[in-house]
Amino acid sequence: MKTEIYHIDSNNIDYKALDKAGEIIREGGIVAFPTETVYGLGGDALNEDSSGKIYAAKGRPSDNPLIVHIANPEDVYNIANDISDKARILMDNFWPGPITMIFSKKDIVPGKTTGGLDTVAIRCPDDPVARAFINAAKRYIAAPSANISGKPSPTSGEYVVQDMDSRVDAILFGNDSRIGLESTIVDMTVEPPMILRPGYITREMLEDVIGEVASDQTILSDKSEVAPKAPGMKYRHYAPKGSLQIVEGEKDAVISYINERIECDKAAGLKTGVIATNDTLNRYVADEVFCAGNTLDKEEIAHNLFGILRKFDDTGVERIYSESFGIDGLSAAVMNRLLKAAGHNVVKL
Ligand code: TXA
Ligand code: MG
Repeated sequence: MKTEIYHIDSNNIDYKALDKAGEIIREGGIVAFPTETVYGLGGDALNEDSSGKIYAAKGRPSDNPLIVHIANPEDVYNIANDISDKARILMDNFWPGPITMIFSKKDIVPGKTTGGLDTVAIRCPDDPVARAFINAAKRYIAAPSANISGKPSPTSGEYVVQDMDSRVDAILFGNDSRIGLESTIVDMTVEPPMILRPGYITREMLEDVIGEVASDQTILSDKSEVAPKAPGMKYRHYAPKGSLQIVEGEKDAVISYINERIECDKAAGLKTGVIATNDTLNRYVADEVFCAGNTLDKEEIAHNLFGILRKFDDTGVERIYSESFGIDGLSAAVMNRLLKAAGHNVVKL
């Protein structure tokens, strides 16, 4: 399949390209597009053939439901039932923005879009290109992240082209994703509402406006045999090709441990890599050392993580070690992705 690539500047949107992308959606095709979290791979959410094409392009298991993207928050009432007062408060505070809510679905949403579930995940993104695209399509847009299943979610147009060229009808190639981690997912069908996937909107931010919020126990658990409540969270996502180990402990001890391991790996002829922070960057002896950012700047670390995981693949690294980034606030989201990438391989010193 030939993939059309449209370069879009979010400060000066080319509406002709968006009209073409919108037409592709109305005809049942699929289009990758930027959002503030990661790039998505969109199709008409109410057309089950489009959803089928999305699963095929990603190589995604079809029991893993898609998120439905809307441009206007009020559209939630057209596709979901039982919108609670708490959901209304979250909509008013965080939409448009990087939070997805799960509701009981209306019959018009096909089971193919929701992986056979009777609930539907809905998000209203704030990225201007995403919003213009949904409006141009005049449809609700079902979209998972625009990566091949199992790879890190793409945070730039280049990564989308790497994964999706010749698999999709078009790519809206815009700016790098502002946040770099997927949206927070909150299940609004249970009481108290439950976070199924941590993201930029933290538990603390949610509790400030609606009171108690629960968290799926598997989010930061290192017992990977426990089944998470969001079907997609059970897969070993985000995985680089090399093996990845997270090392937790006091800074100097972590650096010594990792450097010892690297010496052994090098002696065995293996290419090594480290995910470091700005103040430890120069202390590692690995072949490839990437800086996730300033230790205190969790937004920067969130923004860089997926790009770094992809760079290890590009440079053929076989053994990767990462520092640990804490569990409070946005760190919960960073560690959730890192733990999955590592297949829960953590050493505590
Ligand atoms: O930021 C994001 O959410 C990005 C952008 C493109 O919007 N999308 C994204 O989609 O991350 P995806 O498909 O990669 O992840 C969706 C997650 C999966 O873990 C899926 O199992 C879960 O949401 N999910 C979707 N519908 C659900 C439902 N009805 N019940 C429970 N989990 C659901
Ligand atoms: Mg994904």
